[in-house]
Amino acid sequence: MMARCAPQLIRPLLNGLNLGKVQSFQCLRVAEHSQAPASLQPERTFSSTHRLQDVPGDTGSADRVTVHFINRDGEKLTATAKEGESLLDVVVNHNLSIDGFGACEGTLACSTCHLIFEKEVFQKLDAITDEEMDMLDLAFGLTDTSRLGCQVCVKKAMDGLTAQVPVEIADMRKELGVGKQSK
Ligand code: FES
Repeated sequence: MMARCAPQLIRPLLNGLNLGKVQSFQCLRVAEHSQAPASLQPERTFSSTHRLQDVPGDTGSADRVTVHFINRDGEKLTATAKEGESLLDVVVNHNLSIDGFGACEGTLACSTCHLIFEKEVFQKLDAITDEEMDMLDLAFGLTDTSRLGCQVCVKKAMDGLTAQVPVEIADMRKELGVGKQSK
C-alpha cells in the first residue's frame, strides 16, 4: 500500500515546486562551497610571499642605490649598491665581470678602475683629489667626465647612474714596472 501511496504523495509536491529555482539554489550553494578557504586562495599566497620580504629589521631599499655599468662589449651590468660604497666595492661585491677592473684594490696605483660618466652624473660626484687626478691623467681614453671608480662613493642622488667602462685600460703598475716589483 505504501508503494502505491508514495508516488501519489510525491507527485503533487514535485508539481508544486519550481525546479528551476531549486537547481539555481543548489548551484549557488555549490559555488559558495567551491571557494577555497581564505588561507588557500592565490591572493593570500601572494600576500604571504610579500610579507616574507618585509622581515623585521630589513631596511628595504631606503639606503640602496641602483647603478649600471656598460661593459667593454656593450653588456649592461646592474647592481644594487649601498650608500658610501665605492664603485670599485660595488664591482667586487657583486662579482661583476669587468676584466682587469680595480687591479690595485683601490690604492690609486693602477687606473684600471677608470669609468666614464654621463655629464649630469659627473657633476653630482664629489670633488676630485690631486692624487686621483694624477693617476687619472695616465688612464687610456681619458674624457672630460672620467673618474676612477675606486674614488667615487655611491650617494642616493646617484640612483640609476650609468658608468661606461672604457674600451682600453692601462694598469699603470705594469706600465711603470711597479707590478713586477710588488710580486
Ligand atoms: Fe687602482 Fe682605482 S683600483 S686606481
